[in-house]
Amino acid sequence: MASTGKRRQATRPKILLSTRKLSVRIALTRKDLAEVFSIRENVFQREQKVDKKLEFDGKDGQAVHFLARIGEKPAGCVRIRFARKTALLERMAVLKQFRGNGIGSKLVEAAIRFCRKKKAKQLEMHAQCRAETFYEKLGFRRFGKEFKEIGFAHVGMRLKLGPRNPARSVRRKKV
Ligand SMILES: CC(C)(COP(=O)(O)OP(=O)(O)OC[C@H]1O[C@@H](n2cnc3c(N)ncnc32)[C@H](O)[C@@H]1OP(=O)(O)O)[C@@H](O)C(=O)NCCC(=O)NCCS
Repeated sequence: MASTGKRRQATRPKILLSTRKLSVRIALTRKDLAEVFSIRENVFQREQKVDKKLEFDGKDGQAVHFLARIGEKPAGCVRIRFARKTALLERMAVLKQFRGNGIGSKLVEAAIRFCRKKKAKQLEMHAQCRAETFYEKLGFRRFGKEFKEIGFAHVGMRLKLGPRNPARSVRRKKV
């Protein structure tokens, strides 16, 4: 029915896209990093109203940044830091208009592969509770109690990186 279609469009303002042009790489150049920071500014400052000083916490220099692009367009990012044998997954963000196309999953999978290569034993994060299902689908499990961070409910989540816990292979959505 036309009215249902309109309602769906109104609640899901995203671009459905072919992910054939999706690339995920480690951000190495100044341009790459500028794109990563611009995505975070969009998602965390503008959309979620997170304080810039909390979001840009001075730890970016210790991190490896992953950048997803659709063709030439920056679409998403995530960063990884290491604390001994534990890797920390942080600042996961996909621009609103690109969500629901598997980009977030591809970024996390690339980060997982990287952490395995670096021989990390586990990958941990403070996940926003509203994104818990997203991480669960990638194999993460919650631990500990919920707590508040940057104004939102969070929970600890962990993925053991032994060979018996491979990340789920995410199907690509075709349009
Ligand atoms: C969370 C986020 C990174 C997901 O990115 P995405 O590219 O839309 O995710 P994907 O398309 O790869 O989704 C993979 C699966 O997780 C599900 N999923 C994605 N986001 C979800 C959410 N917020 N809640 C529940 N499920 C979610 C999808 O429906 C999909 O399920 P399916 O494979 O069964 O269809 C994105 O919504 C985002 O940037 N949110 C704002 C920033 C944020 O909250 N970051 C997390 C900080 S901890």
